[in-house]
Amino acid sequence: MGENIVTRYKNIIAPVITWDSEIEIVSGEGSWLTAADGKRYLDFSTGIAVSGLGHQPPHVKAAIQEQLDRYWHVGGVFRYDPLVRAAERLKEITPPSIDMFFFGNSGAEAVEGSVKLARKVTGRQAIVAFRGGFHGRTMGAVSYTTSKAKYRQGYHPLVGSVFVTPFPHPYRWGLTQEDATARALSELELMLKHEITPGEIAAFLVEPLQGEGGYYPAGQEFMEALRAICDEHGILLIIDEVQTGFGRTGDWFTSLIYNIRPDVLVMGKAIANGLPLSAVGASTELLEQWPPGSHGSTFGGNPICCAAAAATVESLHDVVPHVPKLSEHAFDRFFELKDAHPTIGDVRGLGLMIGVELVGEGRTPAPEAFAAVSSYAKDNGMFILGCGPDFNIIRFIPPLNVSTEELDLGIDIIDRALTDYER
Ligand SMILES: Cc1ncc(COP(=O)(O)O)c(C=O)c1O
Repeated sequence: MGENIVTRYKNIIAPVITWDSEIEIVSGEGSWLTAADGKRYLDFSTGIAVSGLGHQPPHVKAAIQEQLDRYWHVGGVFRYDPLVRAAERLKEITPPSIDMFFFGNSGAEAVEGSVKLARKVTGRQAIVAFRGGFHGRTMGAVSYTTSKAKYRQGYHPLVGSVFVTPFPHPYRWGLTQEDATARALSELELMLKHEITPGEIAAFLVEPLQGEGGYYPAGQEFMEALRAICDEHGILLIIDEVQTGFGRTGDWFTSLIYNIRPDVLVMGKAIANGLPLSAVGASTELLEQWPPGSHGSTFGGNPICCAAAAATVESLHDVVPHVPKLSEHAFDRFFELKDAHPTIGDVRGLGLMIGVELVGEGRTPAPEAFAAVSSYAKDNGMFILGCGPDFNIIRFIPPLNVSTEELDLGIDIIDRALTDYER
């Protein structure tokens, strides 16, 4: 004690996890965090798209406190109400094809669960994943993750029979969304001809808007085509909405925006506004084919986390309907910034999941521009994160209940940061 937090970390916390900042946080409320030195920060990192309701939302806090006074853990042994309540709340908001749930602790655990489910019920082994996708860091999840080769480096052999095919990246490829979709689908067709027959494939695992990989929306046509291929060949469509779920993209789930039926829906991050919880949702018909005891988790569906999840969904009912309006405002402002700043190459995304790609000459990724913007933002009282394989994309993910004034404040800081960088 008494030493600087960075030194204390250095002495005892495994350096394998990288930290975006050296600032020590002591409290948070709404869209704001307070550091140990008293400085306040607008938190547009939302703990990597977790705190959709900001910090300490009152209804969620009260639900946690109430459960804290009852019991903390009885899972795997006794029955308990918060688990059912969380599932009931999820059933109200998930796509109609989803009506039964398995709870885990993290996004990666839910991804792994979804793949195990798919393999078990189809009796097939192969999984198709999409280049640039991020599905987590555990051995299975990292086998489907290709947002950066570094995440996989040194961990081979990974889980077998995973086939990776391109996801439409129109800006990077210099194509329209339509042409990028056609290219990605033609590559998928070739893969099914040359590498793996559709009848051997258990599932397609896809993010409807790639997150860590660079904030690329899949687009309506691409999602429709994947659904059609799955239907034709009895393949399950697993939609990973760990980052895109719970109102982030403008509706409860991006699958609802695209009106695409997931066979399996993977949820995490914002589900309990910061408490560790994840869920695999599917139809009763599918989940009843998963033999009892063939999968499980000691802490998955912890009562306190489930109480928080139920309250998070209840609170979000008042918030999600406002996301499209806030999104429109943010996009308008970012398009204005794009006209004013040559460093902004592309602005894309859905809802309040917006990627602002920073580039140099000829679309070259400019990670140094992102570093400068993020550092300027920190100095001026705001946190933002980056993404993409070159780490040159601002990921703009404010709380969903952010005020228009806070939204403008954040975008103004990015505007000034770019002016400073371009000087
Ligand atoms: C789309 C997606 N899937 C899965 C994960 C993994 O979640 P977790 O870090 O909770 O394991 C993430 C995390 O960023 C994600 O964005």
